[in-house]
Amino acid sequence: MSKGLFITFEGSDGCGKTTQIKLLNEYLINSGHKTLVTREPGAIGLGEKIRDILLNYDGEVSPNCESFLFLADRAQHIDCIIKPALAEGKFILCDRHTDSTVAYQGYGRGLDIERINYLNNLATGGLKPDLTIVFDIDAETSLKRVGQNKDRMESAGADFFNRVRNGYLEIAEKEPQRVKVINAADTIENIHKKVIDLVKEYEYTRT
Ligand code: TYD
Repeated sequence: MSKGLFITFEGSDGCGKTTQIKLLNEYLINSGHKTLVTREPGAIGLGEKIRDILLNYDGEVSPNCESFLFLADRAQHIDCIIKPALAEGKFILCDRHTDSTVAYQGYGRGLDIERINYLNNLATGGLKPDLTIVFDIDAETSLKRVGQNKDRMESAGADFFNRVRNGYLEIAEKEPQRVKVINAADTIENIHKKVIDLVKEYEYTRT
């Protein structure tokens, strides 16, 4: 059996990842593939408890503590969910992963990027996505789409989201082979077509 394909979806809040993941999942299933749709933070079980703290805790959370909580969730997710599903030959569609920590805690909160890369590597045991799709959206549109009902992370403000966006674009510049950027202001249908084209390109890297 061929190994699976590990695809991560990234971008600022409100970029439309969830809609695109759903459409891609339907396309892959209709094409006869086995898939797993999952997310960070908080896929299932323990991760959901960590997610609740990260998004809803209303006391002070230091940026360092915040990053370790995301990393703890990631370690659990990789070991208990992603690795077994990849071994079964599934396409993993993962809503956020390592690049979120670089973009949000690194570029957004100002933590050292090299240190985050090092910690990400510890949390994942060195496993990297085969393909990462960044849905690029400006801070103003991002905050407008999120609306009034903001969680703890979404309440960080426009400057923060400008830094997050620039972070994603810099990650894509540094790793052009793995990370592809799609303009999230395009129509849902056009974006879906671009996502499918990218996945087809990478499907051949499965061994
Ligand atoms: P979620 O409701 O899943 O947002 P979205 O639908 O936009 O993915 O909330 C996850 C939030 O956590 C989101 O604001 C991004 C943030 N986040 C980080 O700051 N660092 C990380 O490592 C991860 C995985 C997420």
